[in-house]
Amino acid sequence: MRFLNRSAGRLSRHRRGPLAGVAVLLLGLLLTGGVYTALAPAQADQQASSTADVEAGRELFLVGCAFCHGQNGEGISTDRDGYQVGPSLVGVGAAAVDFQVGTGRMPMSHPGAQAPRKKVVYSDEEIAQLAAYVASLGPGPAIPNPEDYSIDGLSEEEREKAIANGGQIFLTNCTACHNYNGKSGAMPRGGFAPNIRNVEPRHIYEALLTGPQTMPSFSNGNLSPEEKRDVIAYIQSMNDSPEIGGFTLGGLGPVAEGMFGWIIGVGGLVGIAIWIASHTTRSKKNKAEA
Ligand code: HEC
Ligand code: HEC
Repeated sequence: MRFLNRSAGRLSRHRRGPLAGVAVLLLGLLLTGGVYTALAPAQADQQASSTADVEAGRELFLVGCAFCHGQNGEGISTDRDGYQVGPSLVGVGAAAVDFQVGTGRMPMSHPGAQAPRKKVVYSDEEIAQLAAYVASLGPGPAIPNPEDYSIDGLSEEEREKAIANGGQIFLTNCTACHNYNGKSGAMPRGGFAPNIRNVEPRHIYEALLTGPQTMPSFSNGNLSPEEKRDVIAYIQSMNDSPEIGGFTLGGLGPVAEGMFGWIIGVGGLVGIAIWIASHTTRSKKNKAEA
């Protein structure tokens, strides 16, 4: 930071004009990004697993995963029909395994356009072992800790703030695919973005970190851990507010909801205008009578 300040000072002394300022700003951003990426893998390594876990995970992997992902997780490119048999798992991290196996997506039963959620076939311990093995192949995102996504420690006010912020993030980053109510949407080529309500917070966090299939990944640089927590808080708040029959706006989509807001809002304004108008005339009349 001191270096940056000094160079910024020197540039302004030489009157390089506004472009120089922009250049310094960009350089600063680049540096911050660079420092961040340099530090990020170190975070991923924090969850060091025992060699016993890695060994056990490798055994499970050879039986259940290697025929698609390769003997060493290096991936198998394409079969005769042109489907990718299984991508390389080097560097996908423990989070990807915990997500894919923990939601029953893996082991995939057959190659296809989408790996849907299925019944989970491995125990929690086995999933942890598989994750430890894949994490040993190369540095990647670790399984998040409950502190990363829980809002339990927050005050009521902080919670409301987190949910409001999460709602904003959700609207800008997720609704295009998952629909504004989080209840799934169609994707090109026969795929779909699934319903994300009632997904475990840990799996939401991991989906964000690893970006399964056509979903973009939201690295901690794009969406800070706190922002991830806020989105999760928002998604959970949608679960907590059940849609009681009759008055729900659910499923109508953002346009319909906007329309609703518009009618109520403008209707309300008209009402207020009429109220003010009638009251001012009456008060004028009252004054005149006095
Ligand atoms: C029938 C083949 C098949 C089997 C068996 C299989 N996979 Fe996969 N796996 C795939 C394909 C294809 C993809 C990529 C498509 C997708 O994400 O839906 C994938 C994706 C993954 C990913 C996501 C990679 C990423 O970039 O985020 C992980 C992690 C994974 N598999 C782990 C496993 C593990 C662990 C097992 C064993 C328990 C397993 N897979 C078994 C075919 C398979
Ligand atoms: C470009 C489209 C796209 C965007 C944008 C997107 N997703 Fe996804 N998302 C997907 C698809 C497709 C899947 C299914 C992947 C799979 O089945 O392997 C998915 C899966 C998920 C899952 C896993 C659901 C489950 O059943 O386990 C969660 C959670 C999720 N997304 C949350 C989010 C959140 C939160 C955002 C915004 C920050 C977001 N997604 C943005 C396309 C998208």
